[in-house]
Amino acid sequence: MADLAANQSGPGVVYLSDYTPPAYLIDQVDLHFDLDASATQVRTSLKVRRNPQNSQSNPALELDGDNLELLSLRLEGEPLDQSQYELGEDKLIIAPTESPLPEAFELIVETRINPAANTALEGLYDSGSMLCTQCEAQGFRRITYFPDRPDVMSRYTVTLVGDKSKYPVLLSNGNLVEAGETDDSRHWARWVDPSLKPSYLFALVAGQLVCQEDVYTTMSGREVVLRIYVEEENRHKCDHAMTSLKQAMRWDEETYGREYDLDIYMIVAVNDFNMGAMENKGLNIFNSSCVLASPETATDHDFYNIQSIVAHEYFHNWSGNRVTCRDWFQLSLKEGFTVFRDQEFSADLNSRAVKRIDDVNILRTHQFAQDAGPMAHPVRPDRYMEISNFYTVTVYNKGAEVVHMIMNLVGREGFRKGTDLYFARHDGQAVTIEDFVRAMEEANHIDLAQFMRWYNQAGTPVLKVDEEYDEQAQTYTLHIEQSCPPTPGQTEKAPFHIPLAVGLLDMQGDDLLLQLAGENAPGEARTRVLSITEARQSFTFTGVNHRPVASLGRGFSAPVKIQTGYDDEQLAFLFAHDSDEFNRWDAGQKLAMNILLRLIEQFQQKKPLILDDTFIHAFRKTLLNPRLDKALIAQALSLPSEGYIADQCEVVDVEAIFEVRHFMRQTLAFELKDEWLQIYEANSSDNPYAFSAEEMARRSLRNLCLGYLLETEEQAMFDRAMQQFSRANNMTDTLAALSMLANYAIPERHQALEDFYQKWQHDQQVVEKWLAIQAGSRLPRTLRHVKKLMQHEAFSIKNPNKVRALIGRFCAGNPINFHAADGSGYQFLGDQVLELDSLNPQIAARLVQSLSRWKRYDEKRQGLMKQQLERILDKEELSKDVYEIASKSLE
Ligand code: ARG
Ligand code: ZN
Repeated sequence: MADLAANQSGPGVVYLSDYTPPAYLIDQVDLHFDLDASATQVRTSLKVRRNPQNSQSNPALELDGDNLELLSLRLEGEPLDQSQYELGEDKLIIAPTESPLPEAFELIVETRINPAANTALEGLYDSGSMLCTQCEAQGFRRITYFPDRPDVMSRYTVTLVGDKSKYPVLLSNGNLVEAGETDDSRHWARWVDPSLKPSYLFALVAGQLVCQEDVYTTMSGREVVLRIYVEEENRHKCDHAMTSLKQAMRWDEETYGREYDLDIYMIVAVNDFNMGAMENKGLNIFNSSCVLASPETATDHDFYNIQSIVAHEYFHNWSGNRVTCRDWFQLSLKEGFTVFRDQEFSADLNSRAVKRIDDVNILRTHQFAQDAGPMAHPVRPDRYMEISNFYTVTVYNKGAEVVHMIMNLVGREGFRKGTDLYFARHDGQAVTIEDFVRAMEEANHIDLAQFMRWYNQAGTPVLKVDEEYDEQAQTYTLHIEQSCPPTPGQTEKAPFHIPLAVGLLDMQGDDLLLQLAGENAPGEARTRVLSITEARQSFTFTGVNHRPVASLGRGFSAPVKIQTGYDDEQLAFLFAHDSDEFNRWDAGQKLAMNILLRLIEQFQQKKPLILDDTFIHAFRKTLLNPRLDKALIAQALSLPSEGYIADQCEVVDVEAIFEVRHFMRQTLAFELKDEWLQIYEANSSDNPYAFSAEEMARRSLRNLCLGYLLETEEQAMFDRAMQQFSRANNMTDTLAALSMLANYAIPERHQALEDFYQKWQHDQQVVEKWLAIQAGSRLPRTLRHVKKLMQHEAFSIKNPNKVRALIGRFCAGNPINFHAADGSGYQFLGDQVLELDSLNPQIAARLVQSLSRWKRYDEKRQGLMKQQLERILDKEELSKDVYEIASKSLE
């Protein structure tokens, strides 16, 4: 590890402050692919021109390349000899010695690539019966030499030539303009994309695919052909994605005034894919798991996810493609904004409160944890070694919260004015986060200079709130102090501009009309957004004739931690009465958390555990409240996850957290057994599956009840679960029962897992679920079982979905087993990372993250985790991806 320090400060780090405009632009790209699984030949013709934005004199033309075999190079038709260019490991630099490069010229590059050997799944690769691409962020350089940076935007023409039987379908971006046959066995197709795009949005697909087709009429009356391409066996799984796509297209017209621009929109489902999906212009490529669904094989959660991911990729057509990022530091410009857009879309189509709770849960459990660890980075990072490591919950989900806060500050209408200006001003450009914020400022005549800190400072701000009631003056004052813990490279933080939505509840639990000191009369508002800009600030409400209870951060108005010092009684009061559905749920979570944390102390002191009656009572009241949305009840009665509890502890005590949470669930199971049973039965139904808010809510409440009932470990309950497992007419109910049963050492467990596999072994998406359930089981010896499953025919280390389902789930979603005191889980992770590093660095790097927060554990575990990180760093030719995470974790 001697070279560690040298490596880190060395050329491996890219800095935002080093940005310079490219010396050359490429106006036109003509690509010609001679497709072959192990030797594809690519001829690229580039129309190159000097960039007026770059003032260097006689600059060389720098092209990126990775894993390419260079076959030939011609400049203006003349072959270049080796004195005129320099070929490095990852660059091709064209710098003729005798004369400078012309102002404009044509360069033709021929390369050969091997898709079958491409296990990293970046660039052109082989997946099942097709060849396909993934170019974001830097995969295009694995196809041909090119200035592979998003501020180089070009028009593309793509000709695909291939074997007719192996590759009957030939797709690329834009419109199909010509096709034909070269001979008996080969054919070709030419695609022209009229839009300007950066190389990361290039895509091609060639393979044996069938498609489902539909038509969409845009707001201006144009017809767009919609196609979803899949392998034959998945033909019946396209309906939901197609419906979702049309919903997304309509929503973007109605909500943002954005219309689709090409005549055709294609989606392709691919089995081997590193992430969820990719917004390539006119040709989205999706991980099968994020697009294909049928009631028999997909859960409510899958349906819900697919709807939002299809929409997300569609929304990118404006927020990402037509207006793109100048450089990769600006990633949140498109991702944060687009996540915000898909969140609002889902909220409009389903239950807004449930959606908000889901999103906040993700943010709190994953993003807050990232902010508190060695990988903490701002929404706009200012340096990276490997950009793939920055497709994070911070850039995506916190980025979305930052956009959400802008909307909280300017209102919905003001926000729309801002986006209209942004799209109009920057259409066809590669821009920065400042450009986005400036459009918001100018459209709304506000100053967001301080607000920009949300993009540049990492860490989760903490608001400490003290209250003061003055009975004499009838005033109620909130004293608010903000702070933000240090993060790597940022010790001091300047105050953030935080919108805090506040309401005050009277003794009956009703909202007061709010009047701030200095205002003449109370307005209509029962929720007010306070603008916090200083380290310490006070807000006084007048005309308050009883001590109220404040509901703070309504709707999660800012991604901060709020510390109030409320006691159980105040939290129970908010849990029962808050008119803000999000905060009502949140009060319940905080109440549960306080109790859990106290019980953990009891457990550590070996004292008996006792669950308070008031808590059980609050649960009962919520469960039986007929006026509440069933989905919200299910959310409210779910205890915080082990991971989230861990984040609230000084030192993570793995066993204590597990045991106490289990104790709490079990106690609630027995105490409310009749109620769980009653609600379980009352919510059964024989209706055919429907993806509707109402039906999903019913299923989620019913399965919540079943989960608690099983914690009694009574045979009658196991029988019920088995019954549900075998009789359900949809995957949601089947899988809920199966995943619960998998946590108990009972004969039914084995039986159910066996039956399930027999029934679904032909369906890879269902097999993924089957693997994940077993990897997530809390039973001891789960690791042995996982290792056995790695030898099973159902598993493949080369398929990211299978790796995520089995290895990923075990390491990131099974704390009690992964953190086994003997270090066996860590050792297992080390083994897998070392193997995966050579195959697929992106997937390997994701896995390592499970070790990154080692400092949070007891000394013994710290040592064991650290040992694995060091072992990983010792590997020769370690990928940049894994090196960056592992080395930062040890800093
Ligand atoms: N842009 C894609 C999305 O819609 C994700 C691309 C991820 N790329 C990567 N290298 N991880 O979110
Ligand atoms: Zn995206």
